[in-house]
Amino acid sequence: MNAEVLIRENVRGMAAYEPPCRNGAEARALLDANENPFSSVYNRYPDAGQRELKMAVGRAKGVDPSLLTLGNGSDELIDLLMRAVCVPGRDNVVVFPPTYGMYEFYARLNDAEVRRGRVDGDFLPVWEELPGLVDERTKAVFLCTPGNPVGNVIPLEAIRRLAGWFPGLVVVDEAYIDFADVPSAAGLAEECGNVAVLQMLSKAWGAAGLRVGICVAAPALTGWLNRMRAPYNIGSATQRAAAERLRDGERFRREVAAIRRERERMKRVLRGMRGAEVVGDSQANFVLARVADHERVAGYLRRRGVMVRMRHEPPLLAGCLRLTVGTREENDLLYELLNECL
Ligand SMILES: Cc1ncc(COP(=O)(O)O)c(C=O)c1O
Repeated sequence: MNAEVLIRENVRGMAAYEPPCRNGAEARALLDANENPFSSVYNRYPDAGQRELKMAVGRAKGVDPSLLTLGNGSDELIDLLMRAVCVPGRDNVVVFPPTYGMYEFYARLNDAEVRRGRVDGDFLPVWEELPGLVDERTKAVFLCTPGNPVGNVIPLEAIRRLAGWFPGLVVVDEAYIDFADVPSAAGLAEECGNVAVLQMLSKAWGAAGLRVGICVAAPALTGWLNRMRAPYNIGSATQRAAAERLRDGERFRREVAAIRRERERMKRVLRGMRGAEVVGDSQANFVLARVADHERVAGYLRRRGVMVRMRHEPPLLAGCLRLTVGTREENDLLYELLNECL
């Protein structure tokens, strides 16, 4: 598919902002960006091309840097994708609740209608109903795999089929993919011009505070996204720290393995706990549990210093708490308190 047709017409007509170009010349005086000339760590603007960081992301993920758009967290990329394809007040997007709330947040912010698809008992989209839900104004479908808040995985084959018939953008949010046993859809992004895969440094890479989101998409779409984003959306300190973090693959693998082990233990412990029920079979770094009187339980935990997320969304998620997998000690504390109050 030609990505050109996905992009809003007014965006296509825009000239890109050209930040000062300092490559290929020996600079003796930088008088082109109105910076303060007195040297300090941060007196210069960051690299607008984000070359070092893109190389580091590409190496860590086995993706060509030309397929990457980086954002201030993947939240910025969700907004960017929405603005790339949706004409405010006219177009619509599809989400499959229960899911990550920011798809709907940015749709509303950009005045795009939100259409909600249905999920089945395994929290997978009911694909057969989708053709009846979309029309020529449907510009994007947002999928989350592993999903938040259940942690279930959408098969790659289903995403490939969707990308084949749906003429809009298929956004595959893989925030939690590094914790899962399944391959990423990043390969699909190269294969299909209308797939954008989102990943990030906030979860498995342990760098939520840095705010780095990653979008993998075919070169044509990537070209437009990079033209649309603010040229300096990732600061120099973040670019440097994130590239360094990505070079420590050993630590990444060690931590992911520990979190995955603890996740499986959390499911086992909760399944054996009276008054708790594990919902789904999470492949992410959290477990969704249904408890009786969820508000009382969440309040009890909070008063004892353990914060969990209420995800009470009837009917599918009635009485649910989302429990992030912590360190072994943190998880033991959670089990002890749950045993006390259940
Ligand atoms: C499914 C999903 N997508 C995106 C995000 C946003 O991540 P970031 O920290 O990269 O903005 C989150 C954060 O919790 C998430 O759960």
